Amino acid sequence: MRIAENKATLSFSNGTSVDLPVYHGHMGPDVIDIRKLYGQTGMFTYDPGFLSTASCQSAITYIDGDKGELLYRGYPIEQLATQCDYLDTCYLLLKGDLPNLKERQDFHKIIISHTMVHEQMQFFLRGFRRDAHPMAVLTGLVGALSAFYHDSTDISNPEHREIAAVRLIAQMPTLVAMAYKYGVGEPYVYPRSELSYAGNFLRMMFAIPSEDYRVNPVLERALDRIFILHADHEQNASTSTVRLCGSSGTNPFAAIAAGVACLWGPAHGGANEACLNMLEDIQRQGGIAKVGQFIDQVKDKSSGIKLMGFGHRVYKNYDPRAKLMQDTCNEVLSELGLENDPLFKLAKQLEQIALEDDYFVQRKLYPNVDFYSGIVQRAIGVPVNLFTGIFALARTVGWVAQLNEMIGDPEYKIGRPRQLFTGSVARNVKPIEQR
Ligand code: CMC
Repeated sequence: MRIAENKATLSFSNGTSVDLPVYHGHMGPDVIDIRKLYGQTGMFTYDPGFLSTASCQSAITYIDGDKGELLYRGYPIEQLATQCDYLDTCYLLLKGDLPNLKERQDFHKIIISHTMVHEQMQFFLRGFRRDAHPMAVLTGLVGALSAFYHDSTDISNPEHREIAAVRLIAQMPTLVAMAYKYGVGEPYVYPRSELSYAGNFLRMMFAIPSEDYRVNPVLERALDRIFILHADHEQNASTSTVRLCGSSGTNPFAAIAAGVACLWGPAHGGANEACLNMLEDIQRQGGIAKVGQFIDQVKDKSSGIKLMGFGHRVYKNYDPRAKLMQDTCNEVLSELGLENDPLFKLAKQLEQIALEDDYFVQRKLYPNVDFYSGIVQRAIGVPVNLFTGIFALARTVGWVAQLNEMIGDPEYKIGRPRQLFTGSVARNVKPIEQR
């Protein structure tokens, strides 16, 4: 970041003013540095939901919401999704650039050889009800990693951070698959090091001991793409949660568990599950014939119904991930002979109507990544309540990269927002008979 030629002057009606530095990033809007504002004026800024606030400087992911552009470390998501695999993307996010051949082999090897979790983990998992939501289970399992790996819990130690990163990225698929197998009452399937990251996950999810399992390359590639598209997304709610949680100096596993918990919400990672539930509801009520009626309900604010998988805080144009996901959706459905899948047809119809409707056009509401990802996952055989768990698996690398970036930032401090207090002024406790 560098100081811009111009500065911002904040003037008050009493005639006083304060000059504030303005910084240029490499792309995107300039920022006004308000760090000294409180010291100089005794005032805070007020920005619930961080609509105008850059909470940190970051060199990892860049989104141009108006253009519908997403770059990881400068590389367009379209190129990464079609020319690289998920572990290349992990390397890129963590280390700053794509690996060369040797770096790629070494990184793939180290991740693939750390996929087994501590054997004790399965006994911990047994404490959960079988019908627990996988995100509840995952929040617990990821947090519990800190109880298993005492040698990588010191966030200020670069070696600990490195080992924790490898363990988290390598073991998330194992934990997600274990949570699934536990829920359906099937035996856990141990990872296999000769398979790819996505292929291994498919096998851990769907293999059973009594049968051979062959990884379908189309599904493997589709899953790998889902992982790439979800790998990072700058300072979204769960990433900001991880940063805030990690800013206290807590261990990396605890910080990532906080991210998992945040991601669960339907306005964030839970949207893919909510979107598929929405499509299934419309389908039950009559399918394509009911789309018009559903859109009317969405537009009626008193209904409280949203078109899930539509809209985004940053994208005011088509989410580039949604386009790639639509292509993947076509590939997977055609591979599985599901071209006439009624939910896919319904989704396309909803999309078409919404894209032409004034309500959505005026508010710049476009499909986001979750609009098609649920259909792909359902076709692969992933149960709906595991969708957000797969998102968490993929986003773990982004959380880790952002957490490590924060720890390495000389300007890093514990996060501590302030408030505009609107409660009672100081008062005295009355004796109980007078209350
Ligand atoms: N359906 C109907 N109306 C919508 C929708 C929607 N999906 N999204 C936004 N709006 C309306 C909203 O009611 C508001 O209308 P008005 O100006 O009349 O009050 C206007 O559009 C602006 O919306 P907002 O809520 O101020 O926008 P936001 O930036 O706070 O919210 C969002 C962004 C993603 C939470 C929201 O669009 C939403 O809830 N979408 C559905 C859930 C979803 O698909 N989430 C996944 C996001 S992508 C995955 C991820 O990054 O986690």
